[in-house]
Amino acid sequence: MIDLARDHHDTPLDPASSDAVAAAGLRLHRVEDADLAQTSAWLEAEARGFLDSERNDAQRRAHFDSNAYYRKLGVYDDEAPHPETPVATFASWVAQLTVPGDVALPACAISSVTVAPTHRRRGLLRELMTGELRAAAAVGIPVAALTVTESSIYGRFGFGPAAHAASWTINARRAGWAGPETPGRIDFVSRERGREVVESLHERIRRFSPGEIDMPGGHWDRFFGTRPDAENAEKTRVLQYRSAAGEVDGLVLYRVTVNEHDYADSSLEVSSLLAATDAAYAGLWRFLLSMDLVGTVRAHELSVDEPLWWMIADRRAARIEVRDHHYVRILDVPAALQARRYEASGSLLLHVADPLGFAEGRWLLTVDADGRGHVAACTGDAPTDAVAVRLGVAELSAAYLGGVSLATLARAGRVESSDADAAARVLSTLTPPRLSFWY
Ligand SMILES: CC(C)(COP(=O)(O)OP(=O)(O)OC[C@H]1O[C@@H](n2cnc3c(N)ncnc32)[C@H](O)[C@@H]1OP(=O)(O)O)[C@@H](O)C(=O)NCCC(=O)NCCS
Repeated sequence: MIDLARDHHDTPLDPASSDAVAAAGLRLHRVEDADLAQTSAWLEAEARGFLDSERNDAQRRAHFDSNAYYRKLGVYDDEAPHPETPVATFASWVAQLTVPGDVALPACAISSVTVAPTHRRRGLLRELMTGELRAAAAVGIPVAALTVTESSIYGRFGFGPAAHAASWTINARRAGWAGPETPGRIDFVSRERGREVVESLHERIRRFSPGEIDMPGGHWDRFFGTRPDAENAEKTRVLQYRSAAGEVDGLVLYRVTVNEHDYADSSLEVSSLLAATDAAYAGLWRFLLSMDLVGTVRAHELSVDEPLWWMIADRRAARIEVRDHHYVRILDVPAALQARRYEASGSLLLHVADPLGFAEGRWLLTVDADGRGHVAACTGDAPTDAVAVRLGVAELSAAYLGGVSLATLARAGRVESSDADAAARVLSTLTPPRLSFWY
C-alpha cells in the first residue's frame, strides 16, 4: 500500500494534459515538496481560489511540514506578473476508502482544486482532472473520491454522490432524552490529550464505516488546534467518554458561541463526534443536549440514518438538512466491485457508459451466497438469469457504497433495468455510507 502511495505521488505528469496546457501557452508542473518557495506559492493560489485571505509564515510552514504527501500540481502562466504563483492547483493522494463489508480500498483522494478567476472556463480543470484520473488508473488505483464546493462540477467527469451528509440543528431545551442510560463517564480533556487518543479511536471507527477514509495527515492537528498555524484554537473544547472498563470509546470537539442578549440561549457547534461504541454515542449526545446555557446544538456531516433520531423525545426539536457530500468515481470496475461485499446474491449484467473510457463496457457481476462478487467483462451472451442494468459510470459510482438504490435511480430515469428492484437488492446495504469530515 505504501508503494502504491509513493508510485502515485511520483508518477509522471500525464503527457496529453501537459501538451494541452502547453498549447494554451501555460505550463503544467508538479510542485517540489522540498521547496518551501514553491509550496508557499501553490498554497497562496489555493487559498485565493477558495476565497481565503493571504497566507502568513506560520501557515506556509505548517503546510510545508504536513502536506508533503500531497501530489501537488500547478498550472503556471509565465506571462503573469507573478509567474511563480500558479493559476490552477490540484492535489491528490492515496487514501483508504471503507467500502461495504468493512473492506479498505485504495482511492485517489482529490483536493485543492482551484482555477484562478483570471483563467477560468478555458478547460484547465478538465485537463487537470482527466490527466490525473489517467495517472491514478495507470498506477492501479481503482476509484477516485472527493468532497465538493458545488455539486454541479464533477458529474461530467464520472463522479457520483456516493455518501450524503446531514446537518442537524437541535433545540436542546425541547429535544428531551428517550435514549438509553450509559455506564461510562464523561470528562473534559485538554486539546493535546484528545489529540493523543483520536487517531486510534478514529481508526477503530472508520474501518467499519463505509464511505469514510483514513484521516489525511495534518487534519487532526487542524481540528484540535495543535499545529502552529491554528486560529482560535482556544475556543475548541474536548470531551471524552470512558467506558466502565476504562477505555476511551468516544470524543467530541465543540465550540460555543455565546448569545450576548440571552446567555442561557447560547449555541454549541459540534466539530467532530467520534463514538466507537453505542454507549459512547448515546452518552456524548445526551451530555451535549443537556448542557446548561446551551439552547441550540448544531452538528454537520452526520449520517442520514443517525440513531440520535430515535433517542430524542421530541423529533420536531431537530431540523435536518441533507446534502451531497462524498463523491466517488470508479476507475476499475472489476477491482471496485470485487472489493466490496454484498447482502444478496444474484447476477447483474452492467452496461456501463463512461465518456472517459475507464469503466466503459459490459460487465457481468455475479454475487455468491457468501456475499462475494466476481466480475468479468462480458463479450458474448450473458446468463439468462442476469438482470440487465444500463447506466453511466456516475450512477454506478453513486450506488457503489449503497448510498442510493438502483431502483431509485431507475425511477429518476438515471438507470434502465429489466428488473430494477432485483438489481437494487444486490447493491443495497444495511446502513447508508457516511463521511464525517471534508477534505
Ligand atoms: C470549479 C473550477 C475549478 C472550474 O475550473 P475551470 O478551469 O473554469 O473549469 P473548466 O473550464 O475546465 O470546465 C470544465 C467543464 O466544467 C464546467 N464547469 C466549470 N466550473 C463549473 C461550476 N462551478 N459549475 C458548473 N459547471 C462548471 C464548465 O462549464 C465545463 O463544462 P463542459 O464540460 O460542458 O465544457 C473553478 O471555477 C474554481 O476554481 N472555482 C472555485 C474553487 C472551487 O470551488 N473549486 C472546486 C473545489 S471542489
